Amino acid sequence: MRISVIGCGYLGAVHAACMAKLGHEVVGIDVDERKIAELSAARAPFFEPGLDELLKEVQETGRLTFTTDMSAAAGSNVHFICVGTPQKKGENGADMSYVDAATNGLLPHLSPGDLVVGKSTVPVGTAGRLSSLVRNQEPDAHLVWNPEFLREGHAVADTLQPDRFVYGVPDGSEHHAAVGVLDEVYAVPLADGVPRLVMDHPTAELVKAAANSFLATKISFINAMAEVCEAAGADVTRLADAIGMDDRIGRKFLNAGIGFGGGCLPKDIRAFMARAGELGADQALTFLREVDAINMRRRSRVVELTRELCGGMLLGKRITVLGAAFKPESDDVRDSPALSIAAQLQLQGAVVTVTDPKALANAARRFPELHYESDLDKSVAKADAVLLLTEWQQYRDLDPYALAGVVASSRILDGRNVLDAAKWRAAGWTYRGLGRP
Ligand code: UDX
Repeated sequence: MRISVIGCGYLGAVHAACMAKLGHEVVGIDVDERKIAELSAARAPFFEPGLDELLKEVQETGRLTFTTDMSAAAGSNVHFICVGTPQKKGENGADMSYVDAATNGLLPHLSPGDLVVGKSTVPVGTAGRLSSLVRNQEPDAHLVWNPEFLREGHAVADTLQPDRFVYGVPDGSEHHAAVGVLDEVYAVPLADGVPRLVMDHPTAELVKAAANSFLATKISFINAMAEVCEAAGADVTRLADAIGMDDRIGRKFLNAGIGFGGGCLPKDIRAFMARAGELGADQALTFLREVDAINMRRRSRVVELTRELCGGMLLGKRITVLGAAFKPESDDVRDSPALSIAAQLQLQGAVVTVTDPKALANAARRFPELHYESDLDKSVAKADAVLLLTEWQQYRDLDPYALAGVVASSRILDGRNVLDAAKWRAAGWTYRGLGRP
């Protein structure tokens, strides 16, 4: 099939490459010339494991091209909208200007029978609104909402082999013409047994909001337990292991630590609350305010713990922060808890050095006032305290004996509860985890 993908960020670039991998002829379109130049040279404009290799592989087939020219969408049968929906400045709601601009830019290039497929995370009701725009322009075109559930760091595998496909079609019916077209797009994974669910527009939009809210709630639940564990002298990691063995609960997403960040969970739960308020259903989601509050409290808790670890004073203390990305295997620093903690420590007078294997350039753009060091050994030299805030494998693998010889004081705060506390203590370190004795 001939496919256009509008928006080539963390979602769209991966989607375009994966659609070409599935055998389709794909054009990726974005307004950002730098991104398009990189992608045209088969280079990922951000770090995502496996994406560079995939771009090279599919571009050699000639099935994948990139452009800034929206008219290149003409001639494709299926058009994916993959642009961002960031949080509005100073408000909880989602900024829909990119989705609206992408859709309006696409309209003049639609032909009869075309399918417009929304993948961006949007407030419920958006698909209905955009569907009318599409039908007004081209009565014989359809709009489907097909939310994306990929995780950064696993984006290629999550796109090629997702847990499920969700198709939101105008009448919610399996027999809608759009279902067959989308089945053709995803023929390979469907043949491999990936399930697909057909539903109406608002349900499909809500599936994504509900999924992300559930994940955020799960993380804040275990972080709330971490607070209680700290007060009671208990260990939240053992608690999570034990409750996670009940498969109604499950162990995944029960890692207590400095909380969730990134370009999705924080802004998606806020946008969901804002939208529910507009719909008069705000009471239903007041618990998400608490989820958000628990999550943000983790960051201030780490600042306080670091102060304790440094003997009650942060002023002039040399602190090394391991990790700037919001999670490992990503260079994304949007709402990164690690960076937000680093910035708060610096504001309180600590001398902070941040290191990260992939995210330093993005971090420096967002927080230019922090000091960055790409060399891990140099970053920890003479530190008064080390904070592990993003659990990259190289930080999990650190040797406490070797590191003790480099730092000024052997104090470590394990913000992700991934280190072996007994081993670090045996090597002479003052070890603090979160929600652990
Ligand atoms: C998330 C959803 O998982 C994905 O389905 C959706 O499409 C987009 O949003 P992503 O933002 O890539 O994906 O990251 P995810 O792996 O969900 O992690 C989110 C945050 O939660 C990270 O900061 C991570 O460190 C944190 N987290 C995750 C925890 O603090 N504890 C956990 O147990 C799991």
